[in-house]
Amino acid sequence: MSVDLEKILRPIDHEMAPYEPKYMMLASGEAVVVRQVFRDEIPDLLKHVEPLIHVERDFYDVVAARVYAELLGYYQYRFQDQYVLALQVDGELAAIVNGRQVNPKLGLSLHTLALRRGLRIGAHGFAAKMEYHIDTLGHDEVLIVAESPIGFRRWMIEYKLEKRFHIPHELGGVPSWALTRELFDRARSKLVVGRRPVPADLLEKAMEKILSPSDPPTPPLDPLAATRALYDPTATALVQQRWEMEKGQQNA
Ligand SMILES: CC(C)(COP(=O)(O)OP(=O)(O)OC[C@H]1O[C@@H](n2cnc3c(N)ncnc32)[C@H](O)[C@@H]1OP(=O)(O)O)[C@@H](O)C(=O)NCCC(=O)NCCS
Repeated sequence: MSVDLEKILRPIDHEMAPYEPKYMMLASGEAVVVRQVFRDEIPDLLKHVEPLIHVERDFYDVVAARVYAELLGYYQYRFQDQYVLALQVDGELAAIVNGRQVNPKLGLSLHTLALRRGLRIGAHGFAAKMEYHIDTLGHDEVLIVAESPIGFRRWMIEYKLEKRFHIPHELGGVPSWALTRELFDRARSKLVVGRRPVPADLLEKAMEKILSPSDPPTPPLDPLAATRALYDPTATALVQQRWEMEKGQQNA
């Protein structure tokens, strides 16, 4: 009985060509490998996503909570036609990107999560998944949303995405944006980098084990960090508020 029910609960994935790994050099001089992660390796990602659920800064919390649910859904056969790519520097997890195929002509971008900051690793991950949608899966366009101002800058502005506001995105039903094949071709020379094949030693290191990120985002010491991320990314309001408080104390 339970076995039969599982057959109904478990979606049947459509066949999707695998992602061919690539690598690129970062501004730090390190090589980053982009490669596909399949179901059996998902638990190795989950343990690094979970701590980010508690990082309010830059909307890591909402993005990590959603990524955790998507990856777990994939692992437990409760998500249809999802793919997951990992970016690794010397084996260390540096970013996770995922998405799914809606139909043979339409892709949907789920998330981009950088575990190492300041090197455009997230941007490279996003470019890799757009390349996968357009070049490998043959999608005409990809539906995208941003949950954070940095994401908006990276995707909507850098790629000049088109509005598809009549289409509610699967992420929270918010209005969608789209990357078309034409937009991707225009961005290709500037934003999409990487070489194939990946040298054997680099690929082996990446495939061997997903190592813990050495400097992942951590929860803020300051409880007002969430407010700061929402309204004041430079934190000037908070600093000014502190100065006012200090002045008050001196006058007392
Ligand atoms: C959006 C995201 C994937 C972009 O990753 P990325 O391309 O590697 O870029 P970073 O986040 O490292 O840097 C973004 C900006 O913040 C600055 N920054 C923030 N924290 C930084 C840090 N610890 N070190 C260095 N730079 C930092 C960078 O200078 C950079 O500025 P720039 O846009 O002028 O280049 C990443 O910020 C992220 O994972 N954010 C949380 C989840 C999220 O919002 N995902 C996207 C949902 S739409």
